Amino acid sequence: MRTSRRSATPRRYLMCPPTYFRVSYSINPWMDPGKPVDLALAHTQWEDLRDRYRALGHTVEELPPHPAFPDMVFAANGATVVDGRVLGARFAFAERHGEAAVHAEWYRAHGFRAVREPQNVNEGEGDFVVTASWLLAGRGFRSSPLSHAEAQEYFARPVIGLDLVDPRYYHLDTALCVLDPGSGEPGGRAEVMYYPGAFSAGSRAVLARLFPDALLAGPADAAAFGLNAVSDGRHVLLPQAAVGLFGPLRERGYEPVGMDLTELLKGGGSVKCVTGELRPG
Ligand code: ARG
Repeated sequence: MRTSRRSATPRRYLMCPPTYFRVSYSINPWMDPGKPVDLALAHTQWEDLRDRYRALGHTVEELPPHPAFPDMVFAANGATVVDGRVLGARFAFAERHGEAAVHAEWYRAHGFRAVREPQNVNEGEGDFVVTASWLLAGRGFRSSPLSHAEAQEYFARPVIGLDLVDPRYYHLDTALCVLDPGSGEPGGRAEVMYYPGAFSAGSRAVLARLFPDALLAGPADAAAFGLNAVSDGRHVLLPQAAVGLFGPLRERGYEPVGMDLTELLKGGGSVKCVTGELRPG
């Protein structure tokens, strides 16, 4: 296993403050509308993550929150940005439908010229996970398989569909994280970590074929949302409760950075769910 230190590349992220965050409906098994949210704590936790990104040298843009959308803090779901091109979202549940237009408007107002309004249901980076060569795309709970073809055509990158089978891991980014996107050259393979139990047998075999050296997470770290992580190539920001992943990440030369996002977990999301990545052209 590689032990040399990895190098980070500066990233540009999009986050939306949890000003109107609450659990007033349930669209995934983590959401219990009876459970109160400590909004002040949610804010502090969210700010800690934002400030940590900035301290690591990354840019964080802030999307103004909208009072009608309590899940808007999960900014990763609003679009997918690859090579500076934006594929907007189309949400599966009515409660989140209106978020898509708010995101699309933000991109248009911030200099993104290619912004596509999607034809098929896709929940942005919840289900589209980007490497240098491919898009990995989840289906089964939220994004439609038809959105995979749409993304392939729009981004001109091969899309690899993966079937999610466990409702607790309803988005691909709850079960798989790109640690290093690779170079896009033959041999410049991406590195990922994932929880095999979230995938169908066929998709597990596909992942094993594509990523034979992947870091495999166990059920406890997956349930702590340990795969809902963000890597800049060196630092891996992940929920601090996913204790089993820290050692294996260090062995591979990564620097795990534990974050506390317990309030947002009540909505069914953590580090990655609240972080959209704006990948330049
Ligand atoms: N409550 C939100 C939903 O169910 C959480 C979204 C989490 N986001 C993510 N990228 N997995 O839609």
